[in-house]
Amino acid sequence: MKNLVLIGYGGMGTRHLDRLKNVKEIAVKGVYDIDPQKQTAAKKDGYYSYNSLVDVLNDSAVDIVLIATPNDSHKELAIQSLQHGKHVICEKPVTLSTADLQDILDTAKKYNRKFMVDQNRRWDENFRMVKKIVDDGALGKIYEIRNIINGSRGIPGDWRRNPEQGGGMVYDWCVHILDRILWLKKGIKLRSLYADLSYRLGHQVDDGFYVELQFDDGMRCILEVGTANFIKLPEWYVAGSTGTMEIKDFELHGEYVTLKGELAKDTIPVEAGAGFTKTMAPRTDGSLEHHPLPKVAVDVCDFYRNFVAWIDGKEEPIVKNSEVMDDMKIIQAIFDSAKDNKVIHFD
Ligand SMILES: NC(=O)c1ccc[n+]([C@@H]2O[C@H](COP(=O)([O-])OP(=O)(O)OC[C@H]3O[C@@H](n4cnc5c(N)ncnc54)[C@H](O)[C@@H]3O)[C@@H](O)[C@H]2O)c1
Repeated sequence: MKNLVLIGYGGMGTRHLDRLKNVKEIAVKGVYDIDPQKQTAAKKDGYYSYNSLVDVLNDSAVDIVLIATPNDSHKELAIQSLQHGKHVICEKPVTLSTADLQDILDTAKKYNRKFMVDQNRRWDENFRMVKKIVDDGALGKIYEIRNIINGSRGIPGDWRRNPEQGGGMVYDWCVHILDRILWLKKGIKLRSLYADLSYRLGHQVDDGFYVELQFDDGMRCILEVGTANFIKLPEWYVAGSTGTMEIKDFELHGEYVTLKGELAKDTIPVEAGAGFTKTMAPRTDGSLEHHPLPKVAVDVCDFYRNFVAWIDGKEEPIVKNSEVMDDMKIIQAIFDSAKDNKVIHFD
């Protein structure tokens, strides 16, 4: 059993504590937040509240520090915790530069402590459904994956609007959805990318993005986030040589269809708008099979269990620091591509 202290009793921090109730390998020893009101809230919720970061770091009973504070504070908190002999779980985006991440990793190595980033959206059920369908080859050769997250509430009026604190949707969402696509495509080289960021809401940070990735196996991936989309596009669209999958939303509405028989068969043209078409005529001849989305068993608490097993030398980390470093290099390339409006090629 490992003792954990949470730093940052905010939106994500409190969710971590809820999830940790299901993880018998970890005991929550307490909480520290820089904001006295949050300290009071933590006490009211039944947690021991440390008065200062120093008190946390000097408590030899603390094995793990979990950092869930705004993005610009992760580096310093992580380095101090590692230097005091703590293992560290850190929220995403891990840092705002690859150099900062390298500093953390060097410190973890020097003090022989474990450091892992909470890339929890690898455990999203919808993503795991896509991964299963792709891994099983249910759609034939995959040509394209689109993962589009649309909201219509703008950016919350907290640090997420502040560039110095790592605000904006690339750091908020792209870090998640890029990470899991790279995880899904593990071993396949990323050939190039193009990115366009949106600034429709008048903030200093991006309020959305469009990122196109081209992989060496010929697959294209489109990652998109919008915060002023009043009608949502489907969250996932996967196109293969013999099938297509759609997941419309977080609530997991969707299906996949597969082709029975021939792709191109002569058909009767249909009227379409002001014209007519044979190519786009619907398949009304029973040549498509409809399937419900596959069942997948996922439990995000496995992230914490794996961290403890890694500390104990029993398992390899599920989220590897080399993967997170790759994520951060590509995030940097996304900003570069958008700034210069150019395709970035990777050697
Ligand atoms: N993995 C996910 O699904 C997910 C979801 C949301 C947020 N996050 C990440 O979690 C982190 C926190 O986001 P949030 O939405 O919970 O923010 P939040 O603003 O709700 O909470 C942050 C808390 O940290 C405290 N804090 C700030 N600086 C501190 C410091 N130096 N020491 C101690 N406490 C400090 C604040 O007082 C606040 O209570 C961010 O990095 C964010 O990107 C991850």
